[in-house]
Amino acid sequence: MKLRSLFTFLWSATLILGTLNVFAKGLNPSYLRCEYKVDPVTDVSNPRLSWVLASDENNQVQTAYQILVSTSKESLTERDADLWNSGKVNGRDTYQIVYNGKPLKSRDLCYWKVRSWDKNGVAGPWSEAATWEMGLLSKTEWKGKWIGLDLDHLGKGKVYHLPPAPYLRKEIFIKKGLKKARLYITALGVYEMNVNGQKAGDARLTPGWTDYDKRVYYQTYNVTTSLKEGPNALAAQLSYGWYAGYLGYGLLVQNPVVRGFYGRVPTLKAQLEIQYADGTTETFSTDETWKASQGALLESDLLNGETYDARLEFKDWGKTGFNDKSWKNAEIFPDKGERKVQVYPGPPVKVTQELAVKSVTPRPDGTYIFDLAQNFAGVISLKVKGRAGDTIRLRYGEKLHPDGRLMTENLRMARATDTYILRGDAAGETWEPKFTFHGFQYVEIKGLKEAPSKDMLTGLVVGSDTPKVGSFETDNAMANQLYSNIDWTQRANYLEIPTDCPQRDERIAWTGDAQVYAKSATFNRDVASFFTKWIVDLNDGQYESGAYPLYAPRPNLRWHDTFSPGWMEAGIICPYQVYRAYADTRMIAEGWTYMVRFMDFLEKRSKGTHVFVENSFTDISPKGGFGDWLSFGKKTPPDLLASFYYCYCADLMTEMAGAIGNGKDKKRFTETAAAIRKAITEHYTDADGKFKCNAKAYGDGEGYVDGALGFTGHTQTVYANAIYMNIVKPADKTKAGNFLAALLKENGNKMSTGFLGAKPMLPALSATGHSDEAYHLFLSKEFPSWGFEVANGSTTIWERWDSFTKEDGFKYNAAMNSFSHYAFGAVCEWMFGNAAGIKSVKPGFAEFIIRPEIAPDGMGNDGVNELKASLQSMNGLIASEWSKKSGTLRMKVMVPVNTIANIYVPASNAGQVKLNNKTLATSKDVQVTGSEAGYVIVKAGSGTFEFVAEK
Ligand code: BGC
Repeated sequence: MKLRSLFTFLWSATLILGTLNVFAKGLNPSYLRCEYKVDPVTDVSNPRLSWVLASDENNQVQTAYQILVSTSKESLTERDADLWNSGKVNGRDTYQIVYNGKPLKSRDLCYWKVRSWDKNGVAGPWSEAATWEMGLLSKTEWKGKWIGLDLDHLGKGKVYHLPPAPYLRKEIFIKKGLKKARLYITALGVYEMNVNGQKAGDARLTPGWTDYDKRVYYQTYNVTTSLKEGPNALAAQLSYGWYAGYLGYGLLVQNPVVRGFYGRVPTLKAQLEIQYADGTTETFSTDETWKASQGALLESDLLNGETYDARLEFKDWGKTGFNDKSWKNAEIFPDKGERKVQVYPGPPVKVTQELAVKSVTPRPDGTYIFDLAQNFAGVISLKVKGRAGDTIRLRYGEKLHPDGRLMTENLRMARATDTYILRGDAAGETWEPKFTFHGFQYVEIKGLKEAPSKDMLTGLVVGSDTPKVGSFETDNAMANQLYSNIDWTQRANYLEIPTDCPQRDERIAWTGDAQVYAKSATFNRDVASFFTKWIVDLNDGQYESGAYPLYAPRPNLRWHDTFSPGWMEAGIICPYQVYRAYADTRMIAEGWTYMVRFMDFLEKRSKGTHVFVENSFTDISPKGGFGDWLSFGKKTPPDLLASFYYCYCADLMTEMAGAIGNGKDKKRFTETAAAIRKAITEHYTDADGKFKCNAKAYGDGEGYVDGALGFTGHTQTVYANAIYMNIVKPADKTKAGNFLAALLKENGNKMSTGFLGAKPMLPALSATGHSDEAYHLFLSKEFPSWGFEVANGSTTIWERWDSFTKEDGFKYNAAMNSFSHYAFGAVCEWMFGNAAGIKSVKPGFAEFIIRPEIAPDGMGNDGVNELKASLQSMNGLIASEWSKKSGTLRMKVMVPVNTIANIYVPASNAGQVKLNNKTLATSKDVQVTGSEAGYVIVKAGSGTFEFVAEK
């Protein structure tokens, strides 16, 4: 090329690329994460990396990436990166990228960065550097012994055995030239560690709940700047937690064991590893030279609360120079050889928000009720002034009785009471319980000498710190409150494990609740690492037979708690939802043998018939399992539902086998699913495609949940699930949808569904052309409905639609009436997936559909005319918004870089639609690919698209 033409070429290329902003912008990677976390410590030997791309330009994709990993920030260059230089890797992947560099050792600190090439093959800028650090990869590296102090004999009282909590301390000497310090720490029980009087980290209830016989997790704290040359103090408080405290309804059901399911004495294991500038190292570990004592924390229990006598407080016991001569030497406790010690894989449990008190009301008995205006899980921070020995008793409740008393009946045997005894500090004193949590909105305080002010209490919201990724807003106040209720209930219950409820003596991870809600959860918060942790609990809890348990972890709370259809399938459904939301195939691969064992169990149970006929589960309690828990009217046979779930699991296994490249199992489960469908059709449907059952086989229903009501195969729950789980052939779906709509109508347009039927209800209606009916149920304020709860003042999702009504108060047995129970919140799935229409096509939303369902007209103030929803996916922000006004429909869609969206614009033909003020039909920004039942379909790459459709 001649110089002049080369110049012209370059000049025009610059002009073209310049208009596209390629040179100026490129692709910018940010939000670098390793194993779903920012700058974490991990013990995954080949951790997975991810980033999110941004660009100002439409229709952008990554065509290649390059990752550098190095042992220092300085060497994080292409020339010097000493752990991994991926080189230029072609492809769109920006997540689940497996580290493939030099083998990593314990304690390695890895710096990494990434850059991406865009669709024009132009490399963007390098990202900022991020890190991850390797934990202790082998148990043999643990020098710390299990230490504690057996105070169990001091647990007193008639109803509750609540011994004081142990305090442990040790002074150490740090030589000159400290360069780096890491504290590795875990407990059987729960701990808080202080270094020179400062709490290490901000997590609570560490190290969490696991099957402690199998594994316990540890935390790693960077304490380099908390230590100083010379003497330093390490001071830990221990409590009973899930290991040694009360759990679930053990006490209520008079189980032979009510506490101490794993052990009686909480113990601590820690080691502080020091690196000096001269290259030498030193390790201080827990051993018999640590000192131990009881102290001010007289009682400490997750379910029952804490009692703290501030008069017994050790002043500055966490600092150096404290006289611990009178303390005992710590006791050493044996380890269990088979118990793994691993890095905590989940998001930390933390205080995620503070809530101010809205009002304080005096009661005739001299107590005061503080209202925090929101039902949540957590504790309070108390600020008081008074005389030494003054005793403040705090009780917690979700509701008040109509006469203004605190309602605590629904807490059952959970005492949920904290007591603070003042030391009498003239300057006032503050206290917050550490090793407990409550589910509450109201706090009753007894023992105040004067009328308190509102700022005496602050609510501390505690939960697993799962980043918020979803938003949902409409012009309908009820729907907005409902969404807020869903998210609050998720926050209150995603606390270490997915609990059923945070208030009463239960708080266990019921698998049925977890599975019906799992998909909904992914629309609200990033729950990838939360489930990474819990799926291990679930696999650890699998029975020898292959059945997944009713709850995981599974202490022996009641002899007949084993498994149930509709619950146990969580072992398949939850990993599947994680796969769909985050494209996580590692969870599938690691859990595969457990999942296959479960499928084998089902096959064996069906005696090779691939269907569960009536009375297939009479050996469990209740018979048939829990079935469509809390439904109304005639019962759906639990065996029929078990068969549906079997089929659903076989389908999910087929897809997951494909995702991990296991062709053999893919074939197996494809065949299994076909056999189940056939067997279900033969056994449970009549010639019209109507579902039926042999009701007589259940006799009087004795032993079944609500068995006396009788059984029928023709229920809302059956059709909702048959459509949702694709039990019926695509061609028969309309018929099933019509049966469902007819059953609804027969029932006065009301749901009769329980936990298993409510979740698929609206999606099934929407899938079969009954979107308007779905909207009517969604927006209804009549019992039973979501709106009914909102109309009755809910700030969370309730266990029952009418857990409380303004008219009748608490008409139910308080023993089962939680006001923070997320199962019915599973409607969230429809709100995002249908009302906003955000549906993933490819895992991780690499390709997705935006197909909003527009609410019917003519609902006045009870309708929806505007809706805005968004989801921060693995690929970035997806948004779907629509509004309708006098015949004009506006729609706005945000498609993140590197993704493809199939946008369904509600209009009968492309000619009616404008895109960004121009005629859609001639737009070059998107591609009109077809039309379908009232929608024009448009394919788009990244960008923001505003459509206007005139009627
Ligand atoms: C829990 C439920 C759970 C159920 C089993 C209840 O006590 O709170 O949500 O799934 O038991 O039916």
